[in-house]
Amino acid sequence: MKWETRITELLKIKYPIIQGGLAYLAYADLAAAVSNAGGLGQITAMSLRDPDLLRAEIQKLRTLTDKPFGVNFAIGMHGTGYEDMVRVAVEENVPVVTMTGGNPAPIFDLLAGTGIKKLVLVAARRQAQKAEELGADAVMVVGQEGGGHLGRDDVGTMVLVPQVVDSVKIPVIASGGIGDGRGWMAAHALGAEGIEMGTRFIATKECVDASQAYKDALLASSEADTTVIKRSIGAPARALRSDFTAKILEIERETPTYEALKDYISGSANKRFIYDGEKDAGIGWAGQVTGMIHDIPTVDELITRMVAEAESIRVKWGH
Ligand SMILES: Cc1cc2nc3c(=O)[nH]c(=O)nc-3n(C[C@H](O)[C@H](O)[C@H](O)COP(=O)(O)O)c2cc1C
Repeated sequence: MKWETRITELLKIKYPIIQGGLAYLAYADLAAAVSNAGGLGQITAMSLRDPDLLRAEIQKLRTLTDKPFGVNFAIGMHGTGYEDMVRVAVEENVPVVTMTGGNPAPIFDLLAGTGIKKLVLVAARRQAQKAEELGADAVMVVGQEGGGHLGRDDVGTMVLVPQVVDSVKIPVIASGGIGDGRGWMAAHALGAEGIEMGTRFIATKECVDASQAYKDALLASSEADTTVIKRSIGAPARALRSDFTAKILEIERETPTYEALKDYISGSANKRFIYDGEKDAGIGWAGQVTGMIHDIPTVDELITRMVAEAESIRVKWGH
């Protein structure tokens, strides 16, 4: 069957499946596995901090795949200084840059005149329209089910995607709550021309930086085992529910300030769980799709299975 959409054409990939930026988890191994399996893998720049480390990771990725890939910028998370990293992405002539969590205009300026494709991850219709106005090649739109940072409006993928599709001319990629061929085909039915997955790719063999405890927690969790933290400081984000997130929510009720929360929501707190496996001493971002994750396949096995599931759905519905 054919999988071409404007997204496969734009990004020159076989399947319109994009690996989300995954802070502290999306390095060359995972990105190469996704790109080699026919999707678009990504390195997340904020995990590397130093522009030289980003350059080294891009060069490592190029030794692992000759397929297109992306570099992700979570603008608000970088603080200052991400511009030098964008310059590295330009010098290395990466095929795709994705960005989220802030005004993408400064990144667009740095990418001007290059052939690098620009994808913006948004969580609302107005943000998608803004990204289109600025010159984005496509938007990814993430609903409330998703893992990690979310929009402030609590709108789910099912409702958000078709409204964004109706509001912009550029292609739309659906994100948030997708973990198998059913979600993929549902996204196409909503008008999306591709999907982005975050949580599902953590539970794969090539996500080598995720601790076994984090992967086990994804396997053990149901659809109700995530919670949204940081809402009180205007930065809602979905994580696996634990004693640690319960403590964060308690602080948010009593003292909803960044100062009171900062030690609990830092990168170190994130790494304590995702690298060191200390579930009750740190945060592990995850989406509600965790309830549908029951194995740790290779990325290639995962994508091959999704293609088979999607094909059987197409046959069933006579598509
Ligand atoms: C552990 C984790 C870290 C994330 N870090 C980033 C990031 O650095 N940059 C980004 O654009 N999105 C980030 N996201 C969001 C994902 O790219 C994607 O939008 C989201 O995971 C989609 O929802 P899903 O988890 O239901 O697939 C992260 C998500 C998770 C689960």
